[in-house]
Amino acid sequence: MTQSWVLAISVIVVVVVLSTRACPEGCQCFKDVPTVYCNAPDLDHIPQGIPGNTTLLQMQGTKLAVVRKGDLRDLPLLRTLYLSGNRLQTIEVGVFDDTPALVDLEAGNNKISELSAGVFRGLDKLQEVHLSLNSIAHITAGVFSSRPNLQVVDLQKNKIMSIQSGAFTNLANSDVFDLSNNNIGVIKDGVFQGPQGAKHVMLGNNNISSIDPTAFRAFTSLTLLSLDNNYISAIGSMLHNLENLDVLSAVNNKLTQVSDSDFAGCAKLRMVDLSSNQISAVSQNAFKNLPDLQEIILNKNNLKRMDVFLPPGLKTLHFQQNLFAEIPPLPSGIVDLDMSYNPVESFKEGQFSSLTNIQQLSLSGIKCFSEAGIITPGVFAGLGSVKLGTLSLTNNRLRRVPTDAIDHIGNITDLNLSGNNISTIGPKDFGHHTYLFTLDLSDNKLTWLPAEALMALDIFMLELSGNPLVYIGPDAFKHGLFHVGLENTKLRLIDESAFNSSQGVKSLTLNNNSLNYLPGLIFAPLTFYGDPSEILLLDDNPWRCDCQMRDYSKWLQSASNIQTLTCDTPPRLHGTALRDVPVDQLTCDCPHLSSPNISTAGSTTVVTVGHRAVLKCTVTCCPVAAIIWTTPTGTKLSEDSDAPGISVSDDGALVIATATSAKSGTYTCLAANFMGKDQATVHLTVTGNQ
Ligand SMILES: *[C@@H]1O[C@H](CO)[C@@H](O)[C@H](O)[C@H]1NC(C)=O
Ligand SMILES: *[C@@H]1O[C@H](CO)[C@@H](O)[C@H](O)[C@H]1NC(C)=O
Ligand SMILES: *[C@@H]1O[C@H](CO)[C@@H](O)[C@H](O)[C@H]1NC(C)=O
Ligand SMILES: *[C@@H]1O[C@H](CO)[C@@H](O)[C@H](O)[C@H]1NC(C)=O
Ligand SMILES: *[C@@H]1O[C@H](CO)[C@@H](O)[C@H](O)[C@H]1NC(C)=O
Ligand SMILES: *[C@@H]1O[C@H](CO)[C@@H](O)[C@H](O)[C@H]1NC(C)=O
Ligand SMILES: *[C@@H]1O[C@H](CO)[C@@H](O)[C@H](O)[C@H]1NC(C)=O
Ligand SMILES: *[C@@H]1O[C@H](CO)[C@@H](O)[C@H](O)[C@H]1NC(C)=O
Repeated sequence: MTQSWVLAISVIVVVVVLSTRACPEGCQCFKDVPTVYCNAPDLDHIPQGIPGNTTLLQMQGTKLAVVRKGDLRDLPLLRTLYLSGNRLQTIEVGVFDDTPALVDLEAGNNKISELSAGVFRGLDKLQEVHLSLNSIAHITAGVFSSRPNLQVVDLQKNKIMSIQSGAFTNLANSDVFDLSNNNIGVIKDGVFQGPQGAKHVMLGNNNISSIDPTAFRAFTSLTLLSLDNNYISAIGSMLHNLENLDVLSAVNNKLTQVSDSDFAGCAKLRMVDLSSNQISAVSQNAFKNLPDLQEIILNKNNLKRMDVFLPPGLKTLHFQQNLFAEIPPLPSGIVDLDMSYNPVESFKEGQFSSLTNIQQLSLSGIKCFSEAGIITPGVFAGLGSVKLGTLSLTNNRLRRVPTDAIDHIGNITDLNLSGNNISTIGPKDFGHHTYLFTLDLSDNKLTWLPAEALMALDIFMLELSGNPLVYIGPDAFKHGLFHVGLENTKLRLIDESAFNSSQGVKSLTLNNNSLNYLPGLIFAPLTFYGDPSEILLLDDNPWRCDCQMRDYSKWLQSASNIQTLTCDTPPRLHGTALRDVPVDQLTCDCPHLSSPNISTAGSTTVVTVGHRAVLKCTVTCCPVAAIIWTTPTGTKLSEDSDAPGISVSDDGALVIATATSAKSGTYTCLAANFMGKDQATVHLTVTGNQ
């Protein structure tokens, strides 16, 4: 026993001595791989005594400020040097004379403000230099030039203002130049001269107002050029003969036109994104001789017309937020067309009938639709054999689902009617579109969902968020439904059997509503498994953890995979999870629990036009009931609704500020608490002329 202890201790001592001898203080040297980490926070220099066979050295999070000539002495095999995240300001010329095998230098996130010419001299094997997140202001000629194997130059997020001619010459094997997020003003002639292999050049987020017409001439292999977020006012001849260019992105510049010769010789161009410029004209032949062109994105420009040659292979055309008063002529192969937010004055009958391959069509925020509140019925005529993926008709102030218009379309997978003015939906509103993957009706004016409205439909994702919904009745949703979005509504009351016919719902958002309690078995029909993809959001409701929540709480104790909710009131339970509240503490201050009994006594029944009418709904019960009024037109209102000219007051009365003859009719008051509900009607007659 004693002997083996002594043996063990001496073995440990030997190992410790060996490894300290082989590895400098503050470093970690790995036994089987020639890798050394020197990440001790107090280190302020590259330690001496690093094993001579080291090929990877990392220093990170230290106080290292200067790398001096000689610091990497005796590391002739070093291939990878990671110096990111230190306080590095200076790398002296000559440092790398000792490391001719260096392939990868990473020194991002430091304080380097200057790179001296010659700093990388002799590094013929160097492939990658990463210096992002430093403070480099100027790139002088000779720093990066003539490195035969240099592939990646990553200088993004520095403070580069100027690049000398000759800065990046003769880099025949270059692949990526990332100079984005700097303050470069001008790209001069000769910056990239000599053979250049680069495929990707990133110049986005600079202050570039001028690029020499021949600056990119050497990039015969270039496939991606990004010039986003600069001040370029014309393309001119800078892209000429970039014969491999695949994608040009110059979003958010100062371009005013696209000229015939802008893309001359860019024979392989596939995608052009010139969004957010001030383009008001595209020349007739600007896109001619671009047989591979598939995508033109010209969102947020000033185009009024585009009667230009478009290659027959074009698939995507996005003209969102321009000034088109009519739809331009389109090649019939278009798959994805976005004309949203244009002041289109009118559509022809069968406007899109030639687009037999169309899959995505966006006609949101269209002037003539918004003015009429309807979609021109014949606009989709001729699309009967088309299987449309997405149809977006949002923000068109539509007052109804555009049944007649969409009935012309063969099939629709996703229908987006968000942001309209739809206050009612009926069972026949979707015509023959009885199967929809997604139906987005968010941000409309729906105050409730008649059970029969969705009866005929098979929907997978239903979005109703942002409607002034106050009530969800029994069996409101259908089998097959997976997601129901009900956030940011005015929801006050949900029937216990709301989900009885939609047992597959596994994503339900009920956050930010006006719910006080949940009926005990409301979620019982649903089969949540506790899978992370399932969603049940209940936050931001004025949950009242009192006797009304008892049944739900009891059910919740048995349903461990259902998320709990957080009590808002009573004050002593504010912020407490319902699951943590013992059921016997869920009490109401009631002499007797009772279900609602409504009296409408004292209601206005006859009113003269222009006067105020008050319809009473005085409820006797304990605990307090939720009150929902239904108007003769089917609108439902609660205390939280903010409909113009009509409101539910604190005492449950419906107040019509100024009666008009259209307000005549039968009004119904529904009062419900967990004990039950009561309903009563008041008939209002409005007399006199408008
Ligand atoms: C590197 O050299 C040290 C001695 O300096 C030696 O202990 C170690 O085994 C060597 N590592 C490799 C991977 O060759
Ligand atoms: C951007 O360039 C313009 C000249 O084109 C210059 O006036 C301006 O100061 C530059 N902006 C910055 C932040 O350097
Ligand atoms: C539309 O969908 C239905 C049902 O999936 C299918 O029977 C019909 O052929 C489709 N029509 C078109 C034009 O794709
Ligand atoms: C419908 O369009 C709105 C905006 O117009 C968008 O926010 C929403 O994500 C779209 N809905 C779907 C399901 O894509
Ligand atoms: C919405 O429709 C109602 C009529 O249902 C109309 O009074 C109102 O002006 C419309 N609102 C908008 C923004 O178009
Ligand atoms: C909550 O919903 C209301 C609409 O009922 C909306 O105005 C508000 O922005 C929403 N709040 C949050 C935090 O989403
Ligand atoms: C709804 O489902 C619950 C639980 O599955 C059940 O107890 C209740 O009777 C059902 N309600 C109706 C109206 O079918
Ligand atoms: C409702 O109240 C009225 C008047 O107080 C009473 O006559 C009636 O029996 C009550 N109804 C119920 C169902 O309790």
